[in-house]
Amino acid sequence: MHHPSDHTVLVLATSFLDQPVTAHPEAGAARALLEETAAGSDGAVTIRYRCDRNPATELTAAELTGITAIIADLERYPEGLLHEVGPAGGGALRIICRYGVGTDSVDVPAATRAGVMVTNTPGCNSLPTAEWAVTTLLDVAGRRIVHHERAAAGNPKIGPSRLDITGKRLGVVGTGQIGRRVVELLSGFQLDVVASDPYPNHEWAQAHGVRYVSLDELIDESDFITLHAAHREQMIGVREVARFRPDTVLINCARWVLVDNRAVYHAVREGRMYGYGVDETWTEPDLPLAGLNIATSPHVGSDTDSGKINMQLATARQVVQFLAGQTPDNLLNPETLQRK
Ligand SMILES: NC(=O)c1ccc[n+]([C@@H]2O[C@H](COP(=O)([O-])OP(=O)(O)OC[C@H]3O[C@@H](n4cnc5c(N)ncnc54)[C@H](O)[C@@H]3O)[C@@H](O)[C@H]2O)c1
Repeated sequence: MHHPSDHTVLVLATSFLDQPVTAHPEAGAARALLEETAAGSDGAVTIRYRCDRNPATELTAAELTGITAIIADLERYPEGLLHEVGPAGGGALRIICRYGVGTDSVDVPAATRAGVMVTNTPGCNSLPTAEWAVTTLLDVAGRRIVHHERAAAGNPKIGPSRLDITGKRLGVVGTGQIGRRVVELLSGFQLDVVASDPYPNHEWAQAHGVRYVSLDELIDESDFITLHAAHREQMIGVREVARFRPDTVLINCARWVLVDNRAVYHAVREGRMYGYGVDETWTEPDLPLAGLNIATSPHVGSDTDSGKINMQLATARQVVQFLAGQTPDNLLNPETLQRK
């Protein structure tokens, strides 16, 4: 029988199943924290793991019956579901702790209306994601994917030289946590760095010799362009791609939607730009990638042991804070607190 003070925590983040590759000192700490909390609750708190659930499968209200807190993967929380399972619809759900920075999968305004708190985990994965952007840039500038395809099939090289890196001009779109780290990690290459951001960080820019310019100037001036803007609409479309040069490299480890991936595909194919790296699954089956200098990855930017463990711990702590009646870290809709 569900009692109002009982809590069932549902863990959906698939990474809770992963075995760390390295001997990380905090491996398993998030699970331990949740288990200890349940053990000390006199039976009031239950932790349920469903980490093998495919996030692409639509969630139903029935799956969330009696659930008060969720550690969420990328499964979607649309308005109708939130209304049904949250306090506004008489449901038990009080908090969704998003494992990750992005909250596109949760309709946050609808969650607020439904009385469901939403948190995320900014900062936990910025270093791993910055490392991934840097290695993707090096791979694309080095045509590693094409070289690998040819060599692995027993063929000698064909095609143009790879690009020099040192001394080139890098354009960073978005100088938040990840964009700034990318610049810092690349410092050994003595790049000339320009950046664009509606909220420039002048102190950091001065310390790292970075010049802020408009996006148009950045596109015209840069050899390598890397996107780290927390923006939800297209920034690199046909007009921008038309201004790329045969040696332009574009890296997108932010969001698929920022780039007209079709326009970029054709530009790479026709030699109007050098290459493209995108940290998303390629969802254009009519645009085959074989033989092209386009590197894709299935959104693994933050998938290191420390990236995952930090996000596990951050979400587990938020759940514990919620259970203790405290305001959880990184609460995105504090309006929900006033409705209690
Ligand atoms: N590939 C991955 O695995 C992965 C992991 C984490 C984050 N991300 C994505 O990376 C992006 C950046 O994350 P972050 O942690 O650095 O975020 P952040 O909030 O620290 O920084 C984002 C920056 O983008 C700037 N910005 C917003 N709109 C802009 C625009 N139109 N032009 C230029 N700059 C703009 C903001 O002012 C801010 O400085 C996000 O889109 C996030 O979803 C991807």
